Amino acid sequence: MNNEPVDMGGFQLTSDAAMGRRNTLRVDARARLLAEVHDVTRLPEVLAYPAIAGGKVLVLGEGSNLLIRGDIDATVLAIANRGVETFQRDDHVLVRVAAGERWDDFVRWSLGQGLAGLENLILIPGTVGASPIQNIGAYGVEVAEFIDTVEAWDTQQAEFVILDKAACAFSYRHSTFKQQAGRWIVVAVTFRLPRERPLSLDYAGIAEEMEAMGVQRPTPYHVAEAVIRLRSRKLPDPAVIGNAGSFFKNPIVGAVQADAMALAHPGLPAWPHAGGTAKLSAGWLIEAAGFKGARDGDAGMSNRHALVLVNHGKATGPQLWAFAQKVIAGVEAMFGITLEPEPQVV
Ligand code: EPU
Repeated sequence: MNNEPVDMGGFQLTSDAAMGRRNTLRVDARARLLAEVHDVTRLPEVLAYPAIAGGKVLVLGEGSNLLIRGDIDATVLAIANRGVETFQRDDHVLVRVAAGERWDDFVRWSLGQGLAGLENLILIPGTVGASPIQNIGAYGVEVAEFIDTVEAWDTQQAEFVILDKAACAFSYRHSTFKQQAGRWIVVAVTFRLPRERPLSLDYAGIAEEMEAMGVQRPTPYHVAEAVIRLRSRKLPDPAVIGNAGSFFKNPIVGAVQADAMALAHPGLPAWPHAGGTAKLSAGWLIEAAGFKGARDGDAGMSNRHALVLVNHGKATGPQLWAFAQKVIAGVEAMFGITLEPEPQVV
């Protein structure tokens, strides 16, 4: 049961709020207070509200990259502003998108406008405001490439700020927003989208999928369709089975360890990474350690993709977290590599 929200004009407050429908792992937890903010200009007032000021605040989008380990003794801040504005430039368009917009809706809209770049990132769950935090990426593209600026409330300086791309310090599934967690509340993201751009077709599976589709001259639409087909086949749909996408990051190891791993495990996929390091496939490691499709009760790893933690029904936060720990321990025992969770764990 949810308590009735109280409308404060531009934002709504709900005490002892049910979170089950607000996280895609479908963990049935409660939050001390939920503040849903439609008008972000009121954020300073929301944060100064007596029940909120000075306490812990957890910012939430669609809850698609989150594991809730227990009831949340904090204010959950759901940023629910909407709107898209465009600014035409010579060879590109600047698109300012409210943080509360759904990422996938925005990708489809951008393709409909004839803008290129985001086609590889179609069908990623979550909101636009969450996209810079973990620098979402898929099929050889990371969102950082298209971000111009991020607008946020800076809780340290108590003011709205605009961070340019360099200030965001993006890297693989990482940014300054994750580094200094809790400091910024993202309210809008401005993307710089070209009208034309070479397609990114290198990631394994894309070219094969296009061939199967009979595509001769690929456009961004074809790439999007190929990605939809690949994702639908490989990744469990959160609408059908609770999950938060990849639960672990692909581990990054130094050159020496990468060579040793390649020698010992010839099948292990590895990609060259910054500064001579290598990114190894966590999915492969988890499958090789015997966890693909494994489960304890309702908590387990997907039988479609070993990297995805799934809730088969009524798994609790602690049960899901315990299973994740079991996977970390199993992979560490077999390969000496410690996997790190990719979603936010609260
Ligand atoms: N693999 C296995 N077993 C599995 C799954 C994968 O052995 O059960 C091996 C296969 O060799 C496969 C390789 O891993 O070819 C790579 O798999 P995949 O293409 O699915 O990519 P990934 O590295 O497992 C990453 C992202 C995904 C993103 C895909 C596609 C991370 C943590 N995950 O997964 O992002 O969709 O690439 O680009 O980087 C997410 O972040 O939530 C997410 C789903």
